[in-house]
Amino acid sequence: MNTPQIRVGIIGIGNCARALIEGTAFYRANPEVTSGLMFPRVGPYDAGSLEPVAAWDVDTEKVGKDLWSARTAGQNLDVGIPQGDLLPVGSDIEVLRAPTLDGAGVRYQERIGLATELSDQGAEEIIEQIRAARVDVLLNYLPVGSQAATEWWAAAALRAGTAFVNNIPAFIASNDEWRERFRAAGLPLIGDDIKSQLGATYLHRALVRAFSDRGITLERTYQLNVGGNMDFYNMLERDRLASKRKSKTSAVTDAYDGELDDDSVHIGPSDYVKFLGDTKKAFIRCEGQGFGGAPIDMEVQLTVPDSPNSAGVVIDAARIAKLAMDRGDVAVDEWVSAWLFKAPPRAVAQESDSVAKDRLNQWISDSGRTVPA
Ligand SMILES: NC(=O)c1ccc[n+]([C@@H]2O[C@H](COP(=O)([O-])OP(=O)(O)OC[C@H]3O[C@@H](n4cnc5c(N)ncnc54)[C@H](O)[C@@H]3O)[C@@H](O)[C@H]2O)c1
Repeated sequence: MNTPQIRVGIIGIGNCARALIEGTAFYRANPEVTSGLMFPRVGPYDAGSLEPVAAWDVDTEKVGKDLWSARTAGQNLDVGIPQGDLLPVGSDIEVLRAPTLDGAGVRYQERIGLATELSDQGAEEIIEQIRAARVDVLLNYLPVGSQAATEWWAAAALRAGTAFVNNIPAFIASNDEWRERFRAAGLPLIGDDIKSQLGATYLHRALVRAFSDRGITLERTYQLNVGGNMDFYNMLERDRLASKRKSKTSAVTDAYDGELDDDSVHIGPSDYVKFLGDTKKAFIRCEGQGFGGAPIDMEVQLTVPDSPNSAGVVIDAARIAKLAMDRGDVAVDEWVSAWLFKAPPRAVAQESDSVAKDRLNQWISDSGRTVPA
């Protein structure tokens, strides 16, 4: 590898972590390939720059294994990245036991066994593990519904002095108190809930933005999502879903200039279809009124590989977090969140994707130290 490395700690070794690990191996093996990347380079960091140095899970099939072996263990699926001659990223580190808290829900525990719980000293041990591994950025990939566990890890990041990238719909980066704590510590806080590279949220935002831009009144819209991986299986537990619905819905309504009442918007994960595996399908419908009140209907269907669609986004977020720490300029974390995550801080949530991307690109290419106002 020619570029400096970013030392990452990964929380939850599911399909998204698998795609991140295999994607890292793929771009290291093929440094000339830029296809599939939004940011081939971020400062000195290329797409193969992430180096996993610590990893945590709770599944007996994963805890105690080396990370490269754990990526295919338990309920994890083939995520579609060609294996070829990939070098085994993470084969030198062991997956450690995380605290369970509200991480593994009812559906999860139907399918996995929990490794022996941490002792009372568990929290201190993990802070020590993070420090000993010299983690730069912690990546949170817990199942949907893990608000307490995510807060636990955000607090651990603050104590250990690492950046925190919250990939899941637990509200941390969009919460003012957490933002202030990370800002006071001079650490980037990025999230919440990955906006997949070309996923249902990005596409739906573009469609409702087109309605706004072209003067069409959006009257009703839905987005139904189905998939066959553990993320979708976990979301069959409806009580865990409130945060996901909120994050996905606000991501779309924020992109539309007009008003939409709650009864006219239905957005969320809809069902688990086992044979789809890591393929996700989204069905999007927008109904509106055009010139002279004439009706306009639009139906779009999207089929994408679910987990790789998140991995490039997280590789970008981790590289920007590290560059922000290198530059001592962490205020860019809001724009990263706006471009790459569904539920960014309120201050930037209503900015359009193109504005967020331009601000970010300007910051990355600028050798200057500040985020453009
Ligand atoms: N495109 C995408 O795939 C996408 C987009 C947006 C958000 N997300 C979110 O990213 C998260 C991860 O997705 P995934 O597909 O990898 O899920 P997954 O279910 O495949 O993996 C979750 C992992 O977390 C582990 N786990 C459970 N409880 C734990 C605990 N307390 N501590 C540590 N580990 C624990 C599980 O054993 C499993 O290995 C989900 O919340 C998902 O909604 C994914």
